[in-house]
Amino acid sequence: MTWRRWDEAWHDALYGPAGFYRHAAPADHFATSAQGLGPAGDLFAEALARLAERHGTGRVVEVAAGRGELLSALARHAPNLELLGVEVVDPPAGLPARIDWLRSPGGSGLPDGLVGLTGTLLIAHEWLDVVPCPVVAREAPDLPWYHLEVDAAGRERPGAPVQGADLDWLTVHVPDHLGRAEVGLPRDTAYDDLVSRVGEGLVLAIDYGHTRDSRPPEGTFSAYRDGTQVPPVPDGTCDLTAHVAVDTLQADDVRTQREVLHDLLGPATLPPHALSRTEPTAYLRQLARANALATLTSNSGLGGFWWAMSHRGSADLG
Ligand SMILES: C[S@@+](CC[C@H](N)C(=O)[O-])C[C@H]1O[C@@H](n2cnc3c(N)ncnc32)[C@H](O)[C@@H]1O
Repeated sequence: MTWRRWDEAWHDALYGPAGFYRHAAPADHFATSAQGLGPAGDLFAEALARLAERHGTGRVVEVAAGRGELLSALARHAPNLELLGVEVVDPPAGLPARIDWLRSPGGSGLPDGLVGLTGTLLIAHEWLDVVPCPVVAREAPDLPWYHLEVDAAGRERPGAPVQGADLDWLTVHVPDHLGRAEVGLPRDTAYDDLVSRVGEGLVLAIDYGHTRDSRPPEGTFSAYRDGTQVPPVPDGTCDLTAHVAVDTLQADDVRTQREVLHDLLGPATLPPHALSRTEPTAYLRQLARANALATLTSNSGLGGFWWAMSHRGSADLG
């Protein structure tokens, strides 16, 4: 029986030759804002097109592009934007011809060719949560952190003590009462790498996450398959994910999706009912838009996602 640290097993389970993301389309297993699902997906794309416009970027590059759902929605909304998807698989069948595509190694690894981007909005929607990182535990606040190891069946056992930069990260960023955590350092480094790929423009990572005061005591490492949460097993049959410690990313601006979308799109105001009699089509359109915005900004749901942004070069800081 082979025991490995969770971060190593996690990487192989998602990005190894038989890894989950080598064969599974994200939309077959879970829903995200970026998947172009109805009015909310279209409105999400519209918000990103506005962000690109506000920052004067003529190109949108999406790392972790799934099957190109968000880029396809952007292609409809913003015919003048250059679009490039970056993923661990080949371009999906039926991708609009104007969307370019680049193969990526997976996890924290980005393609060598993705460098020196200018005039670019670089988006990574739900990428950092699938960048593997150490999963660690301790028996009590005054006892040492140790790595959790896992076998092929998903059983866990205590491994080596956590040391070095991982331990430093835990010491600074994890409150005393936590008994289990994910070390965010690989995500911090991945975000830095993402930012370094842009010479001029805006870098945006969107993900679910926590800050020091809200880190869950038992950690957030979990697995999903076919829309259902399942026990984490590193066998390539399920997504393995953990929330992102967003306050440790070296970003210029970290805000909730609710805040940013209200800034970009305005409040979710319902149309006056009288409009349904005078202009029923306009009424229904405005109603659908208000519902979509409410979905994307709800306090208990998607509105709680975090947008971590870094401005690069001389891009307008608006
Ligand atoms: C949780 S899914 C999100 C997909 C899409 N952005 C969405 O929100 O629906 C994570 C995606 O990240 C991709 N991914 C992971 N590491 C990557 C990397 N280094 N470069 C490009 N894509 C990566 C996976 O293949 C997977 O499709």
